[in-house]
Amino acid sequence: MQEKLINRTKEAFQSKYNAEPKHFFLAPGRINMMGEHVDYSDGFVLPAAIDKHICFAVKKVDDSEICTFFAKDFDDSFSFNVTQKQTPVSQTWVNYLLGVFNAIQERGKKIGGLEIAFSSTIPMGSGLSSSAALECGFAYILNHIFDLDLTKKELALIGQKSEHTFVGVKCGIMDQFASVFGKERQVILLDCNSLEHQYFEAHIDGCSLLLFDSCVKHTHLTSGYNDRRNDVDNGKKVLWEKFPDIEKFRDFSFSMLDEVRAEMGETSYKRCLYLLKEINRVEKAAKALSEGDVQYLGQLMIETHSGLSTEFEVSCDELDFMVEETLKENGVLGARIMGGGFGGCSINLIKDENVNDVIENITAKYKADFAIEMKVYRVKISDGIREYKRNEFVV
Ligand code: GLA
Repeated sequence: MQEKLINRTKEAFQSKYNAEPKHFFLAPGRINMMGEHVDYSDGFVLPAAIDKHICFAVKKVDDSEICTFFAKDFDDSFSFNVTQKQTPVSQTWVNYLLGVFNAIQERGKKIGGLEIAFSSTIPMGSGLSSSAALECGFAYILNHIFDLDLTKKELALIGQKSEHTFVGVKCGIMDQFASVFGKERQVILLDCNSLEHQYFEAHIDGCSLLLFDSCVKHTHLTSGYNDRRNDVDNGKKVLWEKFPDIEKFRDFSFSMLDEVRAEMGETSYKRCLYLLKEINRVEKAAKALSEGDVQYLGQLMIETHSGLSTEFEVSCDELDFMVEETLKENGVLGARIMGGGFGGCSINLIKDENVNDVIENITAKYKADFAIEMKVYRVKISDGIREYKRNEFVV
């Protein structure tokens, strides 16, 4: 299924390096069933890896200290010396990779020369975590090729650290975790505090999960993501000053939050209120998903959208319009903005028999109001990062 992407990446490698790649790796994007912005607040999340990938074609270069990347989709290259310390550069895509290298170097791990070409089917800036796939894909490659003995958890944490230190986005761990730990047909219930996790099969029989891409692009470096995190940190500080015995953010009650409302100010209050409600919803959504209660799951999705739009304020006119209009259609059980927000995709739970009509109607309405052609992705829940070898996956 990924043949086209793999061939394209292979050709890019051949034309750039005039040689044959020795390995192929596929790093997936992710969806999230429920639990937005709670991953940096001790919450639970419900992500899953999807069948959209960054493909890396790789060749180890013995006796070389140079690692070169060719980003086929940007038609851009970058080389660095693997024995030297690296600092952020002006190309953002490079920083995701250098940040990974830096985090690995800090752990005292040594790598050698590499030639890499990569290309992607994960749309960028659409809330499907192309960044996590890039970071964690590179971390996985280094671990695999140079036998670094890093665990899967470490790979996810290295990806997150790269984003914090070299890119400047204070993201949580959900995206990296999903890209590394994804499993075919399985949703991950992840405790973002302990990183304990379990898998379960999503039961949405008779319904489809569709992504509608608003094509409003964002990067969390400028989107307001870090501002939201600051609002939340301010709220947490006030809460913990008043209730120092509480261990995890999710253990604060609504009445505790109300007690410190004036002190933390309205903005932080709204953010924290949303978070406590959302953490609560994830538990219910996990149960609904595993029991196949699609009506209730849809209801929870609608509540999440409303919270993200009015309390956490990470939606935008285009996504609010899209979700509102989608919910008016027959057979739509739930719809909400997905991921960090400020653009990107909505995730929609729609009865199978109504899918085509909904797509047709929403595409037309969205175009009429915003003059933008909406994109539709029917994604499959898939495995996490893998080496790809002669039509089979090798862990
Ligand atoms: C982005 C971040 C994640 C998470 C989501 C919102 O995707 O990278 O860590 O916070 O936004 O749920």
